Amino acid sequence: MDNRPIGLFDSGVGGLSIWRTIRKLLPDESLDFLADSGHVPYGEKSTAELCDLASRITRFLLDGDAKLVVVACNTATVHALAHLRETFPQTPFVGVVPVVKTLSSRTRTGTIAVLSTPATSSSEYLAGLIREFAPDKEVVNVGCDGLENMVEAGEVRTRATTALLERHLAPVKASRADVVGLGCTHFPFLRHRIKNMLGPGVRVYDPSRPVARRVRQLLEERDELASNAAPRFRFYTTGDADLVQMVARKLLRTTAPRVKHVEI
Ligand code: DGL
Repeated sequence: MDNRPIGLFDSGVGGLSIWRTIRKLLPDESLDFLADSGHVPYGEKSTAELCDLASRITRFLLDGDAKLVVVACNTATVHALAHLRETFPQTPFVGVVPVVKTLSSRTRTGTIAVLSTPATSSSEYLAGLIREFAPDKEVVNVGCDGLENMVEAGEVRTRATTALLERHLAPVKASRADVVGLGCTHFPFLRHRIKNMLGPGVRVYDPSRPVARRVRQLLEERDELASNAAPRFRFYTTGDADLVQMVARKLLRTTAPRVKHVEI
């Protein structure tokens, strides 16, 4: 048993889609979440910049006594997870990547679609996943620039978001894709809108549950599951704490959390 917190981070509030699933699956765990809103969006940064930010954030979470770190961001995972594992060999990490394997096994039409940030969309990592798991599939790979910024601003229902969604979903609609993977942790907060816009013939997959199950499995293997009677949730941001708090409350539909500004 280990009552230390699980640490999670994202470029912003998107990782809360992973946070809420871990919270549900592992209700006794304390969670420390850092939204790196001072440096959002990650989708437009270089690998070197992402490795540097991810390392500094990991150090911050480890200083807070994290027993495991969840990289709750596809962009940081595909660009920086290998670097983190090398830099912090004692720390268990769980990352999140587009669910290409699942999409490939579920499609009936042979066409799959992946929605992610421009950096994930053009990454060698995603190209490798496609080569490995979907070599015989047609892949609609959309780098959805700007979309994470709308979620970051709490704008999930505005006209501007609808216009962006229409633009990014157009190639999916024009294809025979019957399965779509959400390859950015901000996008599950737009899941219902995406589903409605694509219609009932298209299934939408998000990786939050597999990630939460992987966290549980790792903690079980290491005998580090917690049994906190009153688990503690701490929220940090490198950006504007009031804004992150307002948006987090909106996305999580709760009066918690209190968010603290930190420098990393
Ligand atoms: N939420 C992040 C992801 O899963 C990235 C958003 C951003 O570009 O900052 O990729």
